[in-house]
Amino acid sequence: MAHAHEKVEKNIGLMIVLTLLVAAVGGLVQIVPLAFQDSLTKPVDGLKPYNALRLAGRDIYVREGCYNCHSQMIRPFRWETERYGHYSVAGEFVYDRPFQWGSKRTGPDLHRVGGRYSDEWHRVHLINPRDVVPESNMPGYPWLQENELNSADIVPSMKALKALGHPYSDDDIANAEKMLEGKTEMDAVIAYMQGLGTSIKTRR
Ligand code: HEC
Repeated sequence: MAHAHEKVEKNIGLMIVLTLLVAAVGGLVQIVPLAFQDSLTKPVDGLKPYNALRLAGRDIYVREGCYNCHSQMIRPFRWETERYGHYSVAGEFVYDRPFQWGSKRTGPDLHRVGGRYSDEWHRVHLINPRDVVPESNMPGYPWLQENELNSADIVPSMKALKALGHPYSDDDIANAEKMLEGKTEMDAVIAYMQGLGTSIKTRR
């Protein structure tokens, strides 16, 4: 065996190939089982796919780049759970494509912000955060209140998600446009905020 290893050490080409092979096998051993673990791929009890209004709000959240300052991923550490509530579990994100975990926290984590404030608080806060949090450096989004919600994309978008396994009924899809009628972008973002992280019971 000593001789075999000497061969590898003296042949850089062989060394590179074998190194890649070891890294590839190691990677697969870690990653492949995750795809088959129920706790990571099955929705938690009570998780529902976003309704049309929340789904539209989520798209605006992405469009406005809220994830640049807000994560949606509470880590399992005491200083996080004391502040935000129950840590996030994988089964809560099955209907998030793509998930909004984020990695930058200029502002607080938003995963369990649902129900923490009133709709009216969110409205005032999103128009001008300083009206409710004087020291805030979050930008205002006053146009959300002015812009009527665009409903053209909602049906194709829900159909695409259904094809990927989100359990939308035909009624959900048929009523989607009606749900967005007369709503502003602000209404949609607030509906999205109010649903966040509410599918599992938290201690808060
Ligand atoms: C430049 C960074 C930045 C961006 C972009 C940003 N925020 Fe914030 N956000 C903050 C900061 C800082 C706070 C904490 C101060 C405050 O409450 O205003 C905050 C607070 C919040 C809160 C209150 C959270 C809590 O638990 O008190 C909500 C809700 C929120 N942001 C939603 C949004 C939404 C929705 C968007 C996109 C439309 C957004 N934010 C974009 C920085 C940002």
